[in-house]
Amino acid sequence: MAESTNPLFIPVILGTARQGRQSEHVANFLLSEMKKRPEIETELIDVRQLKMRLDDAGEEMKDPEFAKKMTRADGLAIVTPEYNHGYPGLLKHALDMCLEEYIHKAVGLVGVSAGPFGGSRVIEQLVQVVRELGLTVTFTDVNFSRVGDAFDDQGMLKDEKYVGRVAKFLNELVWMTRVLRHGRENIPPL
Ligand SMILES: Cc1cc2nc3c(=O)[nH]c(=O)nc-3n(C[C@H](O)[C@H](O)[C@H](O)COP(=O)(O)O)c2cc1C
Repeated sequence: MAESTNPLFIPVILGTARQGRQSEHVANFLLSEMKKRPEIETELIDVRQLKMRLDDAGEEMKDPEFAKKMTRADGLAIVTPEYNHGYPGLLKHALDMCLEEYIHKAVGLVGVSAGPFGGSRVIEQLVQVVRELGLTVTFTDVNFSRVGDAFDDQGMLKDEKYVGRVAKFLNELVWMTRVLRHGRENIPPL
């Protein structure tokens, strides 16, 4: 069975629209690390830029551009801040627009918090949601705790330990994305 050699398309979803969001620094850093890897093609999907209605929900209000990207995606990375131990409503509103587009694709989760736990509580909640969407979540997350200390005012990374953590996260996300793409393309469902 041949393995597809095309780069893996793994967009990064930035899950908050908040003014002054620190998660944007995290998403930009993640994107820059992903762009160093020839096996990955990526782009930012910012919930701020998505065409989303506020008087509807789910596939009824599917944004065709977002759906096209989810269809094309081989895997996903989601950067989410922790808001009251949960995920931003706008992130859930966006993810709910698709379903079939996600099935049996890999997703890696990156949590961001002002507090010491690096969004570990939002990640636990998001695992339940992505599973229901048909996505397969990686074992390795990245937790940006006390995010205000991790980047400078220009959004440049100050805390170098995240370079290694993101590399480990991407290694698994790439592997799982590749494995699932191979499975979808070569192994018929029972
Ligand atoms: C509505 C709201 C709720 C929040 N709840 C939490 C929380 O439960 N735990 C935490 O560590 N930080 C919490 N924060 C702080 C965020 O983690 C902090 O703003 C961080 O920078 C990541 O979010 P950001 O991308 O919006 O900046 C909250 C922020 C907002 C706006």
